[in-house]
Amino acid sequence: MVEVILKNVKKAYGSVEVIHGIDLHIEDQEFCVFVGPSGCGKSTLLRMIAGLEDINDGEIWIGDKDVTDLEPVDRGISMVFQTYALYPHMTVRENIQYGLKVSKTPQDEIDRRVADAAKNLQLDDYLDRKPGQLSGGQRQRVAIGRSIVRKPDVFLFDEPLSNLDAELRVYMRIEIARLHNRLDSTMVYVTHDQVEAMTLADKIVVLQAGRIEQVGSPLHLYDDPDNQFVAGFIGSPRMNFLPGKVTAVDGDSTSISVDGANVNITLTQNSPSDGDDVTVGIRPEHLGVDGQGAQITVRPDVTEQMGGVGYMHTYTAQDIHVVAEVKGRIAASATEAEQIALSFDPGQAFVFDGSGGRLR
Ligand SMILES: Nc1ncnc2c1ncn2[C@@H]1O[C@H](COP(=O)(O)OP(=O)(O)OP(=O)(O)O)[C@@H](O)[C@H]1O
Ligand SMILES: [Mg+2]
Repeated sequence: MVEVILKNVKKAYGSVEVIHGIDLHIEDQEFCVFVGPSGCGKSTLLRMIAGLEDINDGEIWIGDKDVTDLEPVDRGISMVFQTYALYPHMTVRENIQYGLKVSKTPQDEIDRRVADAAKNLQLDDYLDRKPGQLSGGQRQRVAIGRSIVRKPDVFLFDEPLSNLDAELRVYMRIEIARLHNRLDSTMVYVTHDQVEAMTLADKIVVLQAGRIEQVGSPLHLYDDPDNQFVAGFIGSPRMNFLPGKVTAVDGDSTSISVDGANVNITLTQNSPSDGDDVTVGIRPEHLGVDGQGAQITVRPDVTEQMGGVGYMHTYTAQDIHVVAEVKGRIAASATEAEQIALSFDPGQAFVFDGSGGRLR
């Protein structure tokens, strides 16, 4: 069992605290992804798990060991960075086996593990090349290979695919998913990329400014975000947010005026009060042009036709950008109109209070 447990972990650089008391439980064999905007503390958190950064308070446990004061080499982890950090003068084989040589692993064992990793990562044909003779994706695979051969209990990845072009990213993303299936190891993975987070994670940790906003499975965060930040962060294109005002509350039924339309939304847990300013969130795929349900009036701007779906970029009378996802092709009549009505099912809308908390 190799769980990773953070207990009230804090980090300050000088007098500036950047991680404010994080509690987190990553299960054995789980694929846990940290996401959040630049500077929110993803790398710092990962580096603290790795032991590359001291912590100012709290504890870090890996498996049944308190590793808070252990050196990186004693933690049973291995880290893959965004910059592959390969030795340019060494061959692929020498790069992959470097750590094992240093730790005086017997050569036959080294050969076995290198062959295994090379097979897993489809690097067999490149073992005698130097990194300079490889593509970016191949170099990143070498960096991952170097990590695999050490048989760590926990793999730590810091944006390993962000230097790759779009096509290679998709390919390597699938490779990493396969690797996780094959190795059954606990993995902690940092990314900015929404799609990587959604597709790879068993559990996503959404961070903002050194705090956890929400933890959950990708679809849980997508379907049931706790606040406007998570709602806006998870999902691509992102959720549309429209200002609304509560016009009446009758038991579970809340009437909200949104862009001139009056919308009835059922809120059973925490109702707002009459007159409250709220934000109504509607995902692009929940906006249609079929006239069913509640409606807002917008003026079409740019459209993006992807083939299977299209995205209509529009603006409300108050100049709020609203994106609607349309299945199939977007009709010219819709894009050329001065104004169109976008419709949605109020049951699929999200409501947030003035401070961004979710009303359910
Ligand atoms: N060595 C350092 N000294 C001072 N402040 C630092 C140091 N390293 C990081 N920070 C600060 O800590 C905060 C978290 O940084 P971190 O690198 O963890 O962010 P991140 O979420 O990984 O961002 P990115 O997505 O840009 O990689 C930032 O505000 C950053 O400026
Ligand atoms: Mg980072």
